[in-house]
Amino acid sequence: MGFKYKKGLTSDTEILSAIEEILCNMTLEEKSGQLCQSVGSDIVAIGSTKVKENVDDLIRNGKIGSMIQVDEPLAMANRISRFQELAVNESRLGIPLIFAQDVIHGFETIFPIPLAWAASFNMEKIENAAMISGLEAGSCGIMMAFSPMVDIARDPRWGRVSEGAGEDPYLGEEIAKAQVRGFNKAGMLCCLKHFVGYGAAEAGRDYNTTEITDTTLNNVYFRPFKAGIEEGAGSVMASFNCINGIPVTANKHILSDILRDRFKFNGIVISDYSAVMELIMHSVAADEREAAIKAFNATLDIEMTTNYYRRFLPEAILSGVISETDLDNHVSRVLYAKYKLGIMDDPFKYIKRDRIESFVFSKENRKASYDLAVESAVLLENNGILPLKKDKRIALIGPFAKSKDLLGCWQFSHKREETISIYEGLIEEGYDVIASEGTDIFEEKDIDQAIEVARNSDVVVMALGESSVISGEACSRQNTTIPDIQIQLLEKVKEIGKPIILLVVSGRPLILSGLQDKVDAIMEVFFLGSDAGSAISALISGKQNPSGHLPMSFPYSSGQIPVYYNQLPTGRPYDPESNEHFLSRYLDGPNEPLYSFGYGLSYSSFDIQSFEVSFNEAEREIRISAFIENTSDIVGRSLVQVYIRDKVATISRPLKELKAFKKIEIKPHGKVSVSFSLKEKDLGFYMPDGNFVVEPGEFDIYLGFSSRNKDLIKKTIWYGASND
Ligand code: NOJ
Repeated sequence: MGFKYKKGLTSDTEILSAIEEILCNMTLEEKSGQLCQSVGSDIVAIGSTKVKENVDDLIRNGKIGSMIQVDEPLAMANRISRFQELAVNESRLGIPLIFAQDVIHGFETIFPIPLAWAASFNMEKIENAAMISGLEAGSCGIMMAFSPMVDIARDPRWGRVSEGAGEDPYLGEEIAKAQVRGFNKAGMLCCLKHFVGYGAAEAGRDYNTTEITDTTLNNVYFRPFKAGIEEGAGSVMASFNCINGIPVTANKHILSDILRDRFKFNGIVISDYSAVMELIMHSVAADEREAAIKAFNATLDIEMTTNYYRRFLPEAILSGVISETDLDNHVSRVLYAKYKLGIMDDPFKYIKRDRIESFVFSKENRKASYDLAVESAVLLENNGILPLKKDKRIALIGPFAKSKDLLGCWQFSHKREETISIYEGLIEEGYDVIASEGTDIFEEKDIDQAIEVARNSDVVVMALGESSVISGEACSRQNTTIPDIQIQLLEKVKEIGKPIILLVVSGRPLILSGLQDKVDAIMEVFFLGSDAGSAISALISGKQNPSGHLPMSFPYSSGQIPVYYNQLPTGRPYDPESNEHFLSRYLDGPNEPLYSFGYGLSYSSFDIQSFEVSFNEAEREIRISAFIENTSDIVGRSLVQVYIRDKVATISRPLKELKAFKKIEIKPHGKVSVSFSLKEKDLGFYMPDGNFVVEPGEFDIYLGFSSRNKDLIKKTIWYGASND
């Protein structure tokens, strides 16, 4: 009888010793196979020099350990089941496969894109979205989600800003943790990506190289990863880009010294799609063998879609180029994850056919998507036209009037046609609506007809923006504006003289300068998911009160990019009161973005009273308290934000840093007390060598409703050192 690995283990000690035993019974080929993730199609050829392989044979021969892109969501369960049967019954050791998939903002039920849900600042709802997405994917056999994407992004030209939480490391940390909790609750092995600095792609061009200082890596780009690891993320994906000239896929300093040694990450590190092959294009490896060895030595565990590890590692070990002990370490991490997922005991546990019917795209899941969508839209302008009374006849104009393209990038839902369009949402809400697109995204359709429709209405709702296929991966844009033809449509509608409500559909902050004078209200609606139209319409009518706040600055012009709120002061900060010429400013435009981080309007208005700040020496914390009053007649949610500025430090510190926030619902004319406490960990920063320091001194403490000075009030406090 052949070797049978141990099952039914509970403690880590038992699992680790069972893994030792498995390793002793594995060939070098089988070990290397565990480190290969193939695509789930019959032919596996990615990244190899035209090597065609049959996926069934690869499984039978123990040459792959995991799989990605098995099939379309609902057909997945059957196919996964068949592949798993092959692995368990027909491979020599019977080790089950891990099935992985990009589950970014939903599986069949689609939630708002991550940039949008970041605007909700609602961590419970984001956690819930991740959990539901994980459970939906999980019932079809997926057990590893390539999510959350936690790249900080300051450049809206980069299409992948849609997948992350925007520009702020603190918000990024909170959202990373929320998603990790959600995926963990769903029993998913989640994957923090893309480690690291991918969001800093030069000039916003996807896959481009990066230039990031150690200070910025430590204080900005590393932080959401570190937070996600501490929250229990089981895997990390290496990013495509170079750091200090070395692609992360083969960057020993980044993967081994920092991720594993400094952050104590013991889980799986996986490459991005075909990234091991790309080491050759990066020109740091002469050929496939060298690419495999470099990635392996950097401690990259699994190669995604390429087959270099299994082709070259056994020979490299036999010839003494790499060590078998290192190979065992890589394989142990993969086997450990398999034990932890529970598939070593029950390889089919993730396929729950009964749940596919009752749970996937269920009413309850769509309600959760709707609830999050409502909080993810950001009201940018409103001269009082919103909320809109139901006695008004609406002309709904623009390419998104009846479009179902409201799900956004990185989703593979089969329920696209069931997405609630804006038109359907407005009808459902009880409005009298006539719709006419006028234009596509880039081309005219029938502008004259749209103008006619506008003439026969009381108010025009224009749904303009960019389609999902021009945001996301490989969708960098030089002109991050609403395409010209749509602006021409808007201008023609404007000539009729009816009030205009502009809805901006986009996966990134677009440049909206100049539109404020043409319209009466602007709402950024991103891509809000399966129930987008219902959520948008409820916000238009006032059934729901907007409460989203921008997680990323909306530039005034493209010449400002990158523009972000937490910038350094510079030696010559601009002062609008001064006549001095030699200051850090533009001659032809403002320094500030058009809409700042943290900004967002509500139909309610809020006021801060009794703002107090004190330093509690015994607890070594800064305490902040205030009352927030809803000064309007409408119940609303206020996002109270706390920023600090460390006034003097060894390294120059940002003008403002978000350190805490609370979203609170307040009744009309009600008052709610809020309090925050900032501890040492909130007041310190990382030195370039990664050392965390807390320096005593004066801190400005800001409380308010956005990162703009005019939305904040400030007090200054002395924070003493422990031995002061
Ligand atoms: C490439 C993307 O960069 C990554 O985010 C994704 O997880 C993989 N492809 C797999 O689809």
